[in-house]
Amino acid sequence: MLHLHNILRWVILLLLLVTLYHAFAKKELLKNSSLWLMIAAHTMLVIGIYQLVAGRFGITKGVPEGVSLMKDSFYRFYWIEHPLLMIIAVGLITVARKKAKALNFKATTMLLLVALLCILIAIPWPFRTGGIGRPWFPGM
Ligand code: HEM
Repeated sequence: MLHLHNILRWVILLLLLVTLYHAFAKKELLKNSSLWLMIAAHTMLVIGIYQLVAGRFGITKGVPEGVSLMKDSFYRFYWIEHPLLMIIAVGLITVARKKAKALNFKATTMLLLVALLCILIAIPWPFRTGGIGRPWFPGM
């Protein structure tokens, strides 16, 4: 599941860039790409919720003794910052899909740009400190 979550990030980023290009260049293909993007984003949402609930650092495992959630940058990131920003991004992608269906290019572009920003901020890139950073690809 974690490996799938890791690799799907690249699929989403790629689809997001392609969809953004279609919206920006006012291409009818936008209807198609925005649908695939939404499917990928919703799949990611389901896997993410599973990780958050039942994953190795999931809520059901609890925080270790003596750790305060909001003061611990690791748990704050994986329990709050990452899920919250990603849920916002998936929401924006969903609204963008509605706008894309109506071929509202400008609104789609704006919504997708904000979604991209949220995702880029919330991905646990390998260079992130505090034990948050994760590999570029699964199993690396
Ligand atoms: C576009 C959406 C998302 C992207 C691009 C994304 C990306 C990632 C990446 C790259 C990792 C590191 C994977 C690894 O260690 O190999 C990760 C971990 C994680 N993600 Fe997401 N994520 C997304 C959505 C979500 C959502 C919506 C949730 C929760 C509601 C979530 C919860 C988690 C959790 C709990 C982990 C840590 C899992 C663990 O280490 O056991 N993610 N995410």
